[in-house]
Amino acid sequence: QARLVEESKRLAAYQAVKDHLHPDYTRIGIGSGSTVVYVVEAIAALGAAATSGMLFYPTGAQSEELIEVAGLRLQTINKLPAGAQLDVAFDGADEVDEALNLIKGGGACLWQEKIVATSAKKFVCVADFRKLSKRLGTSWTKGIPIEVLPMAANRVLAELRSMGAPDARIRPGLPGKAGAIVTDNGMWIIDAPFPPLRLPTDEDGQAGGEAGIWTVDALADRLIKLPGVAEIGLFHGQNGLQTQNGGAQKPVAAY
Ligand code: A5P
Repeated sequence: QARLVEESKRLAAYQAVKDHLHPDYTRIGIGSGSTVVYVVEAIAALGAAATSGMLFYPTGAQSEELIEVAGLRLQTINKLPAGAQLDVAFDGADEVDEALNLIKGGGACLWQEKIVATSAKKFVCVADFRKLSKRLGTSWTKGIPIEVLPMAANRVLAELRSMGAPDARIRPGLPGKAGAIVTDNGMWIIDAPFPPLRLPTDEDGQAGGEAGIWTVDALADRLIKLPGVAEIGLFHGQNGLQTQNGGAQKPVAAY
């Protein structure tokens, strides 16, 4: 199974790069995680002549290193000129529903990932066969990763428990190391397992949180407003929710 998974990550990555990295692109976002390793490999395999005119924008320390080791040109998203967008951003996901909403942040990167994804004209998600499910929260049962300010973590936990995630918990750090995991941004992660998230088209899709039943959009809108929450690992956008600069949170394609 492990080899099959790696092979499908690899195939998906090469196909995504083939379909969505056009030779005239100059600004490319690179996400985090183990699948993106193959995306970078596929891009590097195009050769220096093809990639030397491209700048690559990372979503954290791991992604930064991947870009550098592959010999690609690194740039920070903060240097993106006002009004400009990335041509495309590639990233992995922990789960993808049938409307292409995503759970992300299983590897503790999500805040920078959302900034990069929403800075791109086109966001492409690369995910192997294990990650596609009808409703978010079905195959990824560890919970929705939520990046929080450490001093507000307990308050956020209490809110999440009352919203229908009684098993929400602060993600621990590395084995043998006391305390919570600390993100690239100095924050903590809370994992909040909610019952599978509905789509508005579902019969009970308008429930808006009663009895812990949420639509992706209703839950995302509520979570992001909790004081102490920096960013959430739901990449959503039913009805084509767009960010100010026209970037979308939802991918245009998932592999
Ligand atoms: C990182 O925190 C995540 O958002 C990753 O994109 C996601 O966890 C997918 O990672 P893998 O490609 O390792 O499964």
